[in-house]
Amino acid sequence: MRSYKAKMVEPIELPSRAEREAALERAGYNVFNLDARDVYIDLLTDSGTGTMSAEQWAAMIRGDEAYAGSESFARLAESVRDVMGFEYVIPTHQGRGAENVLYGVLLEAGDVVPNNSHFDTTRAHVVNQGAEPVDCPSPAARDPNSNEKFKGNFDIDAGYALVEDVGADAIPVVVQTITNNSVAGQPVSMANIRAVAEFAKDIDALFVIDACRFAENAHFIKENEAGYEDWTVAEIAREQFAHADAITMSGKKDALVNIGGFTAMRDETTFEHAKQRAILFEGFPTYGGLSGRDIEAMAVGLREAVTPPYVSDRVEQVAELGDLLSEEDVPVYLPTGGHAVYLDAGEMFPHVPKEQYPGQELVCALYREGGVRGVELGGFAFPGTDRPDLVRLALPRRTYSREHLEHIAETAAKVMETAHEYDGLEIVEEPPMKELRHFSAKLRPVSN
Ligand code: F0G
Repeated sequence: MRSYKAKMVEPIELPSRAEREAALERAGYNVFNLDARDVYIDLLTDSGTGTMSAEQWAAMIRGDEAYAGSESFARLAESVRDVMGFEYVIPTHQGRGAENVLYGVLLEAGDVVPNNSHFDTTRAHVVNQGAEPVDCPSPAARDPNSNEKFKGNFDIDAGYALVEDVGADAIPVVVQTITNNSVAGQPVSMANIRAVAEFAKDIDALFVIDACRFAENAHFIKENEAGYEDWTVAEIAREQFAHADAITMSGKKDALVNIGGFTAMRDETTFEHAKQRAILFEGFPTYGGLSGRDIEAMAVGLREAVTPPYVSDRVEQVAELGDLLSEEDVPVYLPTGGHAVYLDAGEMFPHVPKEQYPGQELVCALYREGGVRGVELGGFAFPGTDRPDLVRLALPRRTYSREHLEHIAETAAKVMETAHEYDGLEIVEEPPMKELRHFSAKLRPVSN
């Protein structure tokens, strides 16, 4: 049951098959190069693409545009204190702005940063400080079919192995990403959050949470971790942060806004240092590159994210898409995560070699068959890794209906039927930084 109805609509149109084929060719078989108007159902990301509530729009009208000390900032700080429990807050233009501000003051060249899995911008900001990011995902993450509930967990043994290797002094910060976007949007358990907090304390490091999808993570804890059945999502959300020293947050996810983010912390000295860096990169530390109205929307969205039934509705819709795809025998990473369904292109196109990018081929096929735009997060996006060739279908929040989900599943089923016809793709043009190639590279079908 959906807990909202539409108050404003935006027309969408499925271009003809000939138009889709022409658009794909023009885009160099890279859906980042498509015009959004040529996309029927846009599952490229759940970041900033959702629908705001009437309360959020209403709050925007009262946005206080004062350069310093606005009332809108005071309201955001209060929301962050109530919902997440942090005293000090610095707004930023989005999540990566928060990463730049916080890691810019916490890291130095030569440091090592373990994380259950770095998101790509987090990794880039760690590297930008001259530090080394190290992923410590749970071994359970590797199995797309196991029924384990918290595959996003941080592998504490891997953390201690890293300490053996580089020494505790090299690790000033330990990070945990909730939910784990790079591992199919899988959640982490409260027990694991506590264990990471203890690990960080043990090696005298700060514990930072990448909080983007904190409400979705809290929902999974309520559903699947013994002892939390009777807690509210709001209580669990706060408890997740109780042992953390600081967070980075992209408001474009679980603060339910189109733009915005923040970093928050407990330590006043870190706060003072971070403010100076925020002034340099984001803006005065009470607006951080945002308008007062953006900040208002984020202050309201944060509270909505932990107010039932928002998040159960949200996660159930993602599971519904997973079920519809599974019913069509489309190979789906299980269990489905918080914000997206991940398809296994390696399994859908077993005859397409990894170096011919089965994931990117699937992304193109979904667009060609049904105007559906997903994103490849396998061998094309992460060159030189042995990651499975997963394709992410991220659902924007409060945006699509059951009919749209059915169209997505039917589209994937059509691709399955003709899977043998796909031969894969080859790159014809790529940017100098291979790590960024999935945003702009151009490809062509290998049979050409
Ligand atoms: N951390 C995680 C876990 C993220 O998923 C993202 C963004 C960021 C940090 C950076 O936040 O985009 O506001 O600067 N993820 C989006 C995605 C882009 O599509 O998964 P941002």
